[in-house]
This record gives sequence, C-alpha cells and structure tokens, in this order.
Amino acid sequence: MSFESLHRIKQEELQKKTEEIVKELTIESDEICKLTSYFIESMESGLDHQTSTSSKGLPMIPTFVLDKPNGTEKGVLMACDLGGTNFRVCSVTLNGDHTFELKQLKTKIPLEYLEDDTVTSEELFGFLARRIKVFMNKYHPDGAKEIFKMGFTFSYPVDQTSLSAGTLIRWTKGFKINDAVGKDVVQLLQDQLNKLELANVKIVALCNDTVGTFLSHCYRSVNSDSLTVGEISEPVIGCIFGTGTNGCYMEEIANIKKLPAELRDDLINKQGKRYMCINTEWGSFDNELKVLPTTKYDIILDQKISPNPGFHLFEKRISGMFLGEILRIILVDLHQQELLFQQFKVLPHRLSTPFELSTEVLSHIEIDDSTDLRETELNLLQSLRLPTNLQERVCIQKIVRAISRRSAYLAAVPLAAILIKTKCLNRRYHGEVEIGCDGSVVEFYPGYRSMLRHALSLSPIGPDGERKVHIFIAKDGSGVGAALCALVA
Ligand code: BGC
Repeated sequence: MSFESLHRIKQEELQKKTEEIVKELTIESDEICKLTSYFIESMESGLDHQTSTSSKGLPMIPTFVLDKPNGTEKGVLMACDLGGTNFRVCSVTLNGDHTFELKQLKTKIPLEYLEDDTVTSEELFGFLARRIKVFMNKYHPDGAKEIFKMGFTFSYPVDQTSLSAGTLIRWTKGFKINDAVGKDVVQLLQDQLNKLELANVKIVALCNDTVGTFLSHCYRSVNSDSLTVGEISEPVIGCIFGTGTNGCYMEEIANIKKLPAELRDDLINKQGKRYMCINTEWGSFDNELKVLPTTKYDIILDQKISPNPGFHLFEKRISGMFLGEILRIILVDLHQQELLFQQFKVLPHRLSTPFELSTEVLSHIEIDDSTDLRETELNLLQSLRLPTNLQERVCIQKIVRAISRRSAYLAAVPLAAILIKTKCLNRRYHGEVEIGCDGSVVEFYPGYRSMLRHALSLSPIGPDGERKVHIFIAKDGSGVGAALCALVA
C-alpha cells in the first residue's frame, strides 16, 4: 500500500475514533434527568444516615451554620483558608452594608506538602501557623494582648461535630498527609499557633469553602434583606467549580435525621431555628457508579492516576484538577493506538507526565478560531513541547469541547436537584433564586456558564425553571464567609 493511502486510512480512523470519544462523553437530556433523580435520592439517604464512613448516599455534612447573613453584619475578624493551591490569611472588616474590606497574605502551598508522602500533619499545620504569624507581624504588630477570632476555611471533607470542630474524613485534590485523617483540623492548627505564642488567635469556626462562598454571597446580595420589598430573588446555593467541586444549601433541620433527636428538638423548639446549612460534598456523588456516565478514560484516571481511587468520582469528571488530565489520558491512548503523534515512538516527557496538561490549556483550545488552529498549535507547543498537525488539532479541539461540555452538564445536576428538593422555585412569588459560585472553572472557562445553563434547561426544572436562576460569582468567599462564621461563633 502506498504511503498516501496508508496516511488516508489513518486519518479516517482518527476521525472515526474522535467521533466515538465525543459520543461517549456526550450526556443526553434523559441522562440529566436520571442523574438528577438519583442525586435527590442520594441527598435524602445522606441526611438520614452517617455516610462519611460508608459509600451509600452523599456525605451531607451538617455545618452548624443556622442563619443566612443579610448584609447588616459588622465586625473585624480574621480568616484563613487552605485550598488546593494556596493558603490565605486575611483580616476582614464587615461594614454592615453588604460591603467589606479585606487585607490578605496569599502563599502558594510548596509542592513538597502535596507530593512528598513523608510530610506530617504537624509539618503542614506548622507551616500554616508560621504564615499566620507573618500576617500578624505585618498587620497587627502590637496585637499580642488582643484576642483575635479567626474562621478557618478548610476545603476538604470534614466530619463536623460543632461550628468549631471537625475531623478530616479524607484528603482530596492531591494532598496525601495520612496522619491528619481522623484528626480535628481546628485543633491541629490551634496547637501550632499556640506553639508560636499566638494563642490569642482563636480559631472559633471551621467552614468549608462552599459554605464560605454561600455566606459571603448572602452578605453581599442586596436581595438578602429586601425580600419583603418587591421579593426579587433569594440566595439558595453556594458552590465551587474550581480545582475541586462542591455545594451547600439550607436544609430544614427536621429533615436532617442523622442529627441526634435531642439536638434537633433543642434547635427547633428552644432556639427557634428552622434551617441548617448542609455541606453536600457532592464530589462524592455516586461513588458506586450506579448512574454516573463512565468512560475507560475515567477509569484510568481514577484507578491508575488519582491518589484517592474509588472516591470523588463525580468531581473527577467535573473539576479543574481533572479536565486537563482526562484529555492527556485520551491523547496518550490515541498515540498508543497509533492514531496520533506518529512521529514519536516515545511521547514528549510532559505529555506522559500526569497532571502536566492543565485545564487552562483546554480553555484556550476551546475557543480557538484562528486559521489552522494556530493558537492551539502554540499552546500545545508551549505547554507540552508537543508539535501537532492540523488534522490532529481539529480532533483535539472536538475532544476538548466534549470534555468541558460533559463537565458543565454534570455540574447542572446537583443544582437542579437542590432547587427541586428545596422547592425554592415555587416558594415565593415567581420564585427567583440566586446561586453564589466560586472557582476558576466557572469563572474563567469560556462558555462554561452558558453550557451549565443549557443543561439546567434540559434538567427536570426545564426552561421555565432555568430562567429563574441567577448565577453570581462570589469572589473572596472563603475569607468573608469564614469571617461571617467566626462572627456568630
Ligand atoms: C472537597 C470539598 C471542597 C471542594 C471545592 C473538594 O475536593 O472535598 O470539601 O469544597 O473540593 O474546593
């Protein structure tokens, strides 16, 4: 066979394979509906049972946050936030009029804390305490005698036992420090602060980033305190679509059956409270893979590459930490099938290294409309040292768009489920609702919010429900939210 005909056959095979992959990644509207019903079931099961140690249902962690801020809160509070990439220390001034001022110190978490298996919790929390000390020396040098209330945003699953205590269930997003699992993360940090003679900084509240985002959105939303005047819209969900993904909402305390009956009685009948914020930890939705669409690439990612196989499978199809990795796994597979990058016997080092292909690269490819996809060519060259031909780039772009669309369509599922479960779309006149979001994917990935909205309209809430949803980006949620938590503690 001539070289030309062999080349043509390979080209056709690549196109066919690309179409197959795109199809496998496509989520139809009936699947969105099926996933939404199963999500509601998993929420209900999680509210009934302690699920943190078993795999049934969603974790649905009670946060002990009982009220939504309305924007009139006032005070100066400290906050710190351990996320997947950075540690931030802030001092937040809440002005009581929906506005705030924030001073902050942001530090990139050194890679050794994420990559080195021998690092201990004492070392990690010692590092965090030293950053807090640097902040205090800079902004409160004469504050040794004052008591500073601090809220701690901790963006990992924690079994919360009160507003200010909770044990780490497991790490996600790359951390592997095993001896921290099962320990109270507030105590771990407070011990290190005490060692540095910073016992006057008191961690009084522990708050997941999704809860922080929700509270901070409520504080900022002018609608929080104006529902009786014109009844505009109501904040109902806080969520993160960034390195990881998660969401929270206010649940009726009476429905949180896993809380001890005496506690429910005390909250409802003695304290007159009706709702508690629930951290769903939706990243763990359907870890048993009953309904979640799964490709062979998802299995490779989960089983062979991720540090927590079998867990957070929903997150592994949605969040920024994994979208680039899914593409990388697909490209490596197509190379092994001799359909891509045929000039290489051995692939460039970066393409064979897990997590080297970042979701940011996908965001450039997603919207590349340059002649011959030159932008894509440059991006792949710069980020992976990977030369490509036009036909390869056309296929890569199709796959990128399928990966991001699947992510956004899946992201709509928990939102639709919570809107249905809380009946908030029917609650008041026209039932308009607000969702406060944070995270690089929802904020920066081109077209993500439109795809998510489209999927909402295909979900059981339909186009009428989708029109009532207002999505806001709630920046600095972790700082302001943790400060709001600390204020009520
Ligand atoms: C964690 C959540 C967190 C989310 C977003 C997930 O991996 O389990 O606790 O809220 O990432 O940061």
